[in-house]
Amino acid sequence: MAKAKKAFRILAVESSCDESAAAVLDESRGLLAHELFSQVELHRIYGGVVPELASRDHVRRLLPLVRGALGRAGTAPAQLAGVAFTAGPGLIGALLTGAALARSLAYAWGVPAVGVHHLEGHLLAPLLEPDPPPFPHLALLVSGGHSQLIEVAGIGRYRILGDTRDDAAGEAFDKTAKLLGLPYPGGPELARLAEGGTSGAFQFPRPMLDRPGLELSFSGLKTAVLHSLRGRELTPKLRADVARGVEDAIVDTLAAKAVRALEETDLDALVVSGGVSANRRLRCTLDAAVGRRGGRVYYPRLEFCTDNAAMIAVAGLARLKAGEHDGLAILPRAQWPLETLSAVALQDNAVLETARSLPT
Ligand code: KG4
Ligand code: ZN
Repeated sequence: MAKAKKAFRILAVESSCDESAAAVLDESRGLLAHELFSQVELHRIYGGVVPELASRDHVRRLLPLVRGALGRAGTAPAQLAGVAFTAGPGLIGALLTGAALARSLAYAWGVPAVGVHHLEGHLLAPLLEPDPPPFPHLALLVSGGHSQLIEVAGIGRYRILGDTRDDAAGEAFDKTAKLLGLPYPGGPELARLAEGGTSGAFQFPRPMLDRPGLELSFSGLKTAVLHSLRGRELTPKLRADVARGVEDAIVDTLAAKAVRALEETDLDALVVSGGVSANRRLRCTLDAAVGRRGGRVYYPRLEFCTDNAAMIAVAGLARLKAGEHDGLAILPRAQWPLETLSAVALQDNAVLETARSLPT
């Protein structure tokens, strides 16, 4: 069904949670357009994402975003070699909206469609930067739903070295932010509040640091915060000091575990991605800690730390280019283990040129 196309250019759609997004990526000209609509205002009054509302809003937003991205990229459907979409993990209804749209467009345009793993998108987002990370590298993936240390041997070659036993780092930020009366999503709000706080005024637990291994755990943090607030007036100073204490505890824990993982794997390059990788203090602490070992940290640009379609386009382009595509059935997956993905060996690809050095 796929037609022969001159330039390998694709459309990508993201709809796994509360961000609707579309992007156009060209293998030699790079990212041509990316459009995003955040539903944050829609969910704010509920203090978190309401799945059914998210799905309904994706239905409203996605098609105009696709039109906008194609228009901005000066791209007609006939110039596309394929369509990528987030197939999971995520909210099943939200995933269905993007998958159905992307699959249908690809069918109408007579091009292949590929379902992308959302976390692979986060992992590969730094490949869009002018100075992309080398392979192999270690990845610290810290989002609202995940906190993982992953050995990345190549695209699709992932080994999870450490995971969280309970809350993810972003979840810990969001839950403690809620206790401080901050609006959803609390991570960036808590980071802002922490800027005016005193480090050390509150010393919260650094879970799992005293034990060997690379497992993480953050659920004790919200209990500790709850205890520290009990019976006290929530003054601006107290809130800022607690916020600083929370941020320090999360950042110290992530940095210590990431350095431990670099030591254990003997890797020098660390990729940090997912929403929490936008955190300024995390970036400073990791840059210093990894730099001391002679290593380097790679991040996506700030706007590509949180959910977006550009990162889905990178993973989708790599997979479509390698000949992968889905059938006509629309099969999004709420759960999808990262380690079950297949390895991608790329021959010639300017956007993903670092992949050339991958062992095949
Ligand atoms: O990757 P992402 O956009 O969505 C998921 O796939 O989960 O990550 C969202 C998470 C939220 O928990 C949000 O509070 C957190 O990333 N986050 C931050 C910051 N920006 C976003 N956490 C701490 N500091 C930030 N600057
Ligand atoms: Zn995400």
